Amino acid sequence: MSRLIVVSNRVPPPADKGASAGGLAVALQAALRDRGGLWLGWSGETAATEAESEEIKTRVEGNITFSLVDLTKRDQEEYYSGFANRALWPLLHYRLDLADFDRRDTTGYFRVNAFFARILAAQIQPDDVIWVQDYHLIPLAAELRARGITNKIGFFLHIPWPPADVFFAMPWHRRLLEAFTSYDLVGFQIDYDAENFVNCLVREGLGRETSRGTFKAGEREFKIGAFPIGIETAEFTSVAVEAEHNALVKRMAVSLNNRKLIIGVDRLDYSKGIDQRMLAYERFLENTPSAHGKVTYLQVTPKSRSDVPEYAEMQREIAETAGRINGAFSDIDWVPIRYINRTVKRTTLAGLFRMADIGLVTPLRDGMNLVAKEFVAAQKPEDPGVLVLSRFAGAARELDGAVLVNPYDMESTGGAIAGAIEMPLEERIARWRSMYDQLTRYDVNYWCESFLKALETQHNVPAFGSQN
Ligand code: ADP
Ligand code: F6P
Repeated sequence: MSRLIVVSNRVPPPADKGASAGGLAVALQAALRDRGGLWLGWSGETAATEAESEEIKTRVEGNITFSLVDLTKRDQEEYYSGFANRALWPLLHYRLDLADFDRRDTTGYFRVNAFFARILAAQIQPDDVIWVQDYHLIPLAAELRARGITNKIGFFLHIPWPPADVFFAMPWHRRLLEAFTSYDLVGFQIDYDAENFVNCLVREGLGRETSRGTFKAGEREFKIGAFPIGIETAEFTSVAVEAEHNALVKRMAVSLNNRKLIIGVDRLDYSKGIDQRMLAYERFLENTPSAHGKVTYLQVTPKSRSDVPEYAEMQREIAETAGRINGAFSDIDWVPIRYINRTVKRTTLAGLFRMADIGLVTPLRDGMNLVAKEFVAAQKPEDPGVLVLSRFAGAARELDGAVLVNPYDMESTGGAIAGAIEMPLEERIARWRSMYDQLTRYDVNYWCESFLKALETQHNVPAFGSQN
């Protein structure tokens, strides 16, 4: 088996430094646990000088060797907070209203990609298979090809890909699309994303689909496909079972005092629809006076990307909404929303999911959403909770037992909460069973193996527009 090299901007924190709140790190760590490999990425630290950022820090955890670099403050601002999270993130989540297309950030984005390529190229051996993750690193393969690297290189996008008319609002859309053609395989979460992407390539005149899933751009042919990401289903279930003995989980159970528990767990991100979710819960409280004092909504939301102005703004808005709803509905012995801004241990999280009667996962747009899958995996088979899921999450294409909602429609999302609370046991079991079977079959290892198999069977041809 060839050595696998994974490259991502974010890597999991060291085992003793808490949980990672982010699907990419959680999923890849699980997928690599058995297979092993080299994982290159950003340490999360700031380098004082450019020379310092060249120093590679190595960390070994089980079968995984991490090769990490610090980024200078300027690199973080332009590449990470700037182009990746103020231009690409909102654009790919259909939020043109929040996108900021800045030339300096764009230059920084391509510069940091060239830097990662330089660091990586020095470590590549002839048989290595390289797997690049997510929107931070789109130009990486083109940079590697320019350095003469001919290894198989795959790319997986963890987030959505919008229709062409949205993507073409990006001033540098052609440059990015061309960069994709240096990969051997480009993977998306769902078919709809892959179709949107192919349509962008075709409309930009970059080539044609020779057969479904194979695209020819100049002399180069590469594959495009959907590979829905999964979770470590069996593992998460057993963690949830064990978590019933967890002290914090027990404390939570006591504090609930027989109230129904509704749970939301997301990074503090506008794509997650947290504000709209709270407003939907408010509608539910307004329309269901009998539920007052009998339900608790726990929202666990660690801060994320706080250096990006749109995130700082949203942090304020959500805190205000939670405060206003609590002010309006609380009683001396009941608070309708418990709002927590930190990560919790995976065991605790699994235990809280297991205890919950409703999982509220209502992103305005999401590539997949692993929280939805974790919630299902954690349920008690004989008395499972109900998943209320946005139709705009990739997970909605797979989890057919969820109650699907339009997160922009607070009235009907509020109604879905009421319906979920009243749902008979038989229906809950039937819905849960069908979702759990799906998650058992298509877990994170299936995702990893099916992507790598598709990559390994793709033959190597020269990069689009390259001289190599
Ligand atoms: P994203 O990648 O956009 O953050 P996902 O739902 O796909 O969204 O993945 C989030 C991952 O981070 C999940 O594995 C989830 O359990 C974890 N996570 C999210 N919030 C927390 C939290 N407060 N504490 C611990 N883990 C969290
Ligand atoms: O899963 C989507 C994603 O954007 C990952 O690429 C990223 O690691 C994660 O969310 C968390 O975001 P960040 O790395 O900016 O903290």
